[in-house]
Order: sequence, then C-alpha cells, then structure tokens
Amino acid sequence: MSAEKVSITLNGKTSELPVLVGTENEYAINIDKLREETGFVTLDFGYKNTGATTSKITFLDGEEGILRYRGYDISDLAEKSNFTEVAYLLLYGELPTAAQLADFNQKLKDASDVPAETGAILKAMPKGTHPMAQLAAVTVALSGVFGDGAKLSEENIINILAKFPVLVAMVIRNSQGLDFIPNDKNADYVSNFLQMTFGKPASAVLVDAMDKLLILHADHEQNCSTSTVRIVGSSNANIYASISAGISALWGPLHGGANQAVLEQLEAIEKDGGDTAKFVAMAKDKNSGFRLMGFGHRVYKNFDPRARIIKKSCDEVLNDLGVKDKKLTIATELEQAALHDEYFVTRKLYPNVDFYSGIIYKAMEFPTDTFTTLFALGRLPGWVAQWKEMKENKEPIGRPRQIYTGATLRPYVAVSER
Ligand code: ACO
Repeated sequence: MSAEKVSITLNGKTSELPVLVGTENEYAINIDKLREETGFVTLDFGYKNTGATTSKITFLDGEEGILRYRGYDISDLAEKSNFTEVAYLLLYGELPTAAQLADFNQKLKDASDVPAETGAILKAMPKGTHPMAQLAAVTVALSGVFGDGAKLSEENIINILAKFPVLVAMVIRNSQGLDFIPNDKNADYVSNFLQMTFGKPASAVLVDAMDKLLILHADHEQNCSTSTVRIVGSSNANIYASISAGISALWGPLHGGANQAVLEQLEAIEKDGGDTAKFVAMAKDKNSGFRLMGFGHRVYKNFDPRARIIKKSCDEVLNDLGVKDKKLTIATELEQAALHDEYFVTRKLYPNVDFYSGIIYKAMEFPTDTFTTLFALGRLPGWVAQWKEMKENKEPIGRPRQIYTGATLRPYVAVSER
C-alpha cells in the first residue's frame, strides 16, 4: 500500500485500487474496478466497513463521540440554533443569513397545507394501524398530487418539509381517534406542530425541548433509513416514495423504533416489580434473547454526544413539568448499571439518544406508539439533504452484489411424472 493506492493480487491478477482520504482523514479503498480486474467482489454483512458514498453533509466519529452537521458541532447547534435553521444548513451547506432564514420559514408556512384527502386516507386505515405505517402511507400519497417528484426541484424539497409536521400531527391525533386540528400558517414550524398535535398552544419550555430533540435527530450520515432513502431515490423513484421508504426503515426497534421499545421495556420492568438487576442479568445472558433497549449503537463506541445533550434537556423538561414517575427511577438505575457493569463497559454499550428521548416524549404526553414519528420528523431534513446530494452527485442506482450459496443447477422434474 502507498498513500495513493493499494495493490491487491488475487488468483494471479493484480488490481491497483485508489485510496481516498476524506477531509477528516478517513481512509477508504476504492474497489470500483476490483471485480472487473480480478473477478472478486467484497463481502460485508451489515455494511460495517463499506462506504456507500462520499458525502459533505454529516461527520461522525463514533470512537471519539463526535457529530457535526456541515462542520458545525452538534452541541453548538442544539444550544444556539433552531430546527428550521439546521434544516437549511443541512440542505444548502451553509447557515442562512437572517433574510434567507425568514424567506425559508415563509416558504415552509406557505406550502404547509396537505391534500384534502389526507384525513380520509388516515381514517380509512384499520383501527390500531401503527402510526409509522400511517405516516409512510400519507407521505407516499403526496406523490399523487405533486407533479414530478423524482425531479430535484426546490418545489419538491419545500413541499415535503412543509407538509411533514402537519402529516405527523394528523397521524398522532388519528391514532388516538381524535379530530384533526387546523394548520396555523402564522405559527412557527415547531409551535404549529405541537398545537396541531395537542389542540392547545405549547409552553415555551416544551417548544424549546422539542426543537432541540428535532435538531439532535436531524441527520446521522449513512444509517439504515438514510441509506434506504438514497437507495430508493437512486432508482429515480420520487422524493415522497423515497422518504416513505425511509420512514419504514426507521420504524424497526433496532433503529428509530428503539424510542418506543425503551418506554415499553421500562413499563414492563415496572409492572414486573421494578427489579432492574434482574433485567440487566437477562440482557447479559445470550440465551435469553433479551436486549436492553436504548443501549448500544452501531457506530458510537463512546458516549453518544446527542445522549449527553438530551440527558440535560430531559432533566429540565421533567423538572419543569414536575413529572415524578417510577419509570424514571428505573431508567436511572439501568443507566447506572450499564455504565458500571463489566459486560456493558467492555462492549462499549452506552445509553443512546433513544433512551432519553423516549422518556422526554412520555413526559410531554405523546402516546408511546407515536414516538418514532417524532424521530421521523426530526430526521426529515437529513433524509431530504441526502436525497438531494445523491441526485446532485448523479449517483448510479444502488445495486449490491452477493455471494450465492444456494443449490447449483439441478434438473426439473414435473410433479405429474413423480
Ligand atoms: N443489550 C445487551 N447486549 C447488547 C446490546 C444491548 N442493547 N447491544 C449490543 N449487545 C451486545 C451483543 O450481544 C454483542 O455481544 P457479544 O460481542 O458478546 O456477542 C455486542 O454487544 C455487540 O453487539 P452487536 O449486535 O454486534 O452490535 P451492532 O453494532 O450490530 O448493533 C445495535 C447495534 C443494533 C444498536 C444494538 O446495540 C442493539 O440492539 N441495541 C438495542 C436497540 C437500540 O437501542 N437501538 C437504537 C440504536 S440508536 C438509533 O438507531 C437511533
């Protein structure tokens, strides 16, 4: 290996593979030509060591616990910025001027009305349909109304960002069998969302906490749902279908669905008598099939920087609302156990962002099964920015290879002749 290339010889055939260095000194071997030149492909279950793209949007160093959007540290953004400003930053690469931000916010307000059929679509879905399924359905339904959603256009980008909080609020109300609250085009993005969800204006503390939570979730480079959005978009499927696919990917409990799973697990532990040691022991027992939800992360092998910020926010919201809940004591005990237990320490299993977000959402009185829709609302600017980047880069359709391990050719024998 030299600084610029890696030479690999396989079955007597040599391939010179270029080495790519990112702006944060991350190294990658570009294997574009490997199959063509040697007949070999690489195999990487779960893409643990495979870069699918180059990206200028988010930098994450799991070992060091660093997360930056467009070069700005997540804690600075969470403390000093607001969600629509962060959305602008993710989408266009720079922080907006005051005039640009005002214009962006106005465009979001102007485009926020959803198609008249949205309520009817939600009401037609079977009672008890999971909110994430409802959200995926009404999101892809937007493609029926708005022209060429596959086109990289300002209209498509503004449309999905503007309408999404309205869709999420409607889904949350529909899940509880409640009437919809009209969209208020004079209210700001987050206040309008909370007002449409709860049917009353939210306090400044809640608006601020929600805004912060959305910022913390806004992007996380090539995770499961974001990769899904990019790969679906790479087939030239429209933006609404691509985002809807991202929502479905986010739903799973190993990804965004963890925030719901955390709360359900805390409830189950409480119901069982609150013996946290018993559940910690179960999580360590490989035969139990039980995992502590909200602990561990594919890339953070250090404290999740978002978890640090959210933990502080969590304490503030609970204090402000005066919430006293046994589940919070259980959560603290689990957190302490995991931070000091050899099993969790050696595997670097720290509480992740979903451990705390679930607790805050509960205190804010969101129904537990709607938590993941809030994650989707936060992640939307990231999904859209990544979709936009994929389009701008003119990336080819995503189509991984495989190593076939099934039956080799065998003769077909018709059933009637047996
Ligand atoms: N509880 C108990 N043990 C765990 C946990 C957990 N939550 N997470 C990982 N482990 C153990 C594994 O059993 C494994 O042990 P071993 O090395 O002895 O076999 C080791 O830690 C490594 O785990 P992997 O599953 O290989 O780690 P991976 O990176 O594939 O998975 C994941 C990461 C999916 C997040 C995992 O930690 C997990 O299931 N956590 C619980 C679900 C969760 O909180 N998901 C939210 C992720 S954050 C997000 O998406 C926003």
